[in-house]
Amino acid sequence: MISVKSCDPFEGQKPGTSGLRKKTRVFMQPDYLETFVQSTFDAIGGLAGKRLVVGGDGRYFNRDAIQTILRMAAANGAAEVIVGQGGLLSTPAASNLIRKNKTDGGLILSASHNPGGIDADFGIKYNISNGGPAPEGITDAIFENTKSIREYKTLTTADIDLGAIGQQTLGDMTVTVVDPVVDYAQLMGQLFSFEKIKALLAGGFAVRFDAMHAVTGPYATYILEDLLGAPKGTVINGVPSEDFGKGHPDPNPIWAKPLVDEVMSDNGPDFAAASDGDGDRNMILGKGIYVTPSDSLAVLAANIHLAPGYTSGLAGIARSMPTSRAADEVAKSLGVQCYETPTGWKFFGNLLDDGRVTICGEESAGTGSDHVREKDGLWAVLLWLNILAERQTSVTDIMNSHWQAFGRHYYSRHDYEAIDSEIANTLMADIVAQLDSLSGTKAARLTIADANQFAYDDPVDGSISRNQGLRLFFEGGARAVLRLSGTGTEGATLRVYLERFEAPNGDLNMDPQAALKDVIDAVADLTQLQTRTGRNAPDVIT
Ligand code: G1P
Ligand code: ZN
Repeated sequence: MISVKSCDPFEGQKPGTSGLRKKTRVFMQPDYLETFVQSTFDAIGGLAGKRLVVGGDGRYFNRDAIQTILRMAAANGAAEVIVGQGGLLSTPAASNLIRKNKTDGGLILSASHNPGGIDADFGIKYNISNGGPAPEGITDAIFENTKSIREYKTLTTADIDLGAIGQQTLGDMTVTVVDPVVDYAQLMGQLFSFEKIKALLAGGFAVRFDAMHAVTGPYATYILEDLLGAPKGTVINGVPSEDFGKGHPDPNPIWAKPLVDEVMSDNGPDFAAASDGDGDRNMILGKGIYVTPSDSLAVLAANIHLAPGYTSGLAGIARSMPTSRAADEVAKSLGVQCYETPTGWKFFGNLLDDGRVTICGEESAGTGSDHVREKDGLWAVLLWLNILAERQTSVTDIMNSHWQAFGRHYYSRHDYEAIDSEIANTLMADIVAQLDSLSGTKAARLTIADANQFAYDDPVDGSISRNQGLRLFFEGGARAVLRLSGTGTEGATLRVYLERFEAPNGDLNMDPQAALKDVIDAVADLTQLQTRTGRNAPDVIT
């Protein structure tokens, strides 16, 4: 039993859906990680006799943190901890292992798409036995425990060899080190026709996958190159490094620009994709085309029956509120429900567990299905490849025919990063204060039809989540959403989500920023955000 020195991991702020995310050096302070871990064990009624999965995305401090967690789990009476070899597990693979081994839960070490390294970010979150992020009841209890914790339990033992597959003992606990990839690859093999994808690739269909020096490298190399026969070199940046090659492992056109440039060039591959630090996000590209995550969700939903794991079709679709309404059109045509949830994967868990939806997605490059309880980057890539193999056509053709059938939801997100928190909060509060009087007023060239704050009534557990983003609906059908990020580690990040629908008989091939100009100007006029934040332009446009 070790007494905790003064330490407040959350600094008075409640954890969000992604657990605890801070600078790496903060995590490395004495007792810091330990405080979170003991508070978590206590929040789930102790660890006696329980089994956990532990793994992370390989960023700096991953291995040290795992050794600490293993000692603490043993001291707290756990029966077994299953760990990925080398401490590696992608977030979807960890979710799969929790479900497959029926463990009580798991600890996932990652700061997702944030950079890694001693001067970058680290994170940890607890997932429950369904394989998904802990619900608010548990994260609230962890938070409360961190405020009152006085001591934690640990052992004084040598490090476990995380390189050796098989079982070792730590105190009275079994540590089972597993290959991080095989179980996940097996699951993918059940969902998709590897034979069809193999034939597509053998026919010369060129694929490029950028693992961004992060955790999906070994998964993508094994599945795409070893199992599906893609040529060596199909996976680039495929060896996970502790600082992600000093890059920003966020699969979007900004941070994966070299890949986008390649796919837009004359000799580019037919299909390209990238995943983030912990492997739950995806970016999809075809020769000469970037597929927005919102469109990707809609296309996958419309074609998912082509993959063997989904031949019986969809129970329903879920998307986060800021995600474009492209998927709603598909749901309508399939005669299934489309649920609109707050931002964050945890809201999908209840719908998936209850069998109400099969596929879900977020505009932030997250797509997934009921196969695990996390979003899953490589799953989306393989589903795309399975669809392409069945339809024997290009990504551009698939997009064009989708828009011709359903219309096109022009979409973009503008992020203003690391702005002063007070300025951001006041900006939002000022719009909230005017909400009731906005209907009918002009903003630049548009007229506001309705404005409100999004609230979600969970149809499964009846819980209500309020204040989940400001929505501005314009006459003519355009929409803008404003919300503050819950995952940043520096100041505030203001996200502005812009959307405009173009019917099937309209102009389906405009540049998105040009197509959205009226909406962009309307938001600028209404919020004066550029003057207030001192920024002439967004830091990131996706
Ligand atoms: C961001 C994304 C959100 C995603 C979350 C975790 O959260 O916008 O869709 O679920 O990361 O990956 P935000 O920073 O906007 O709160
Ligand atoms: Zn992630």
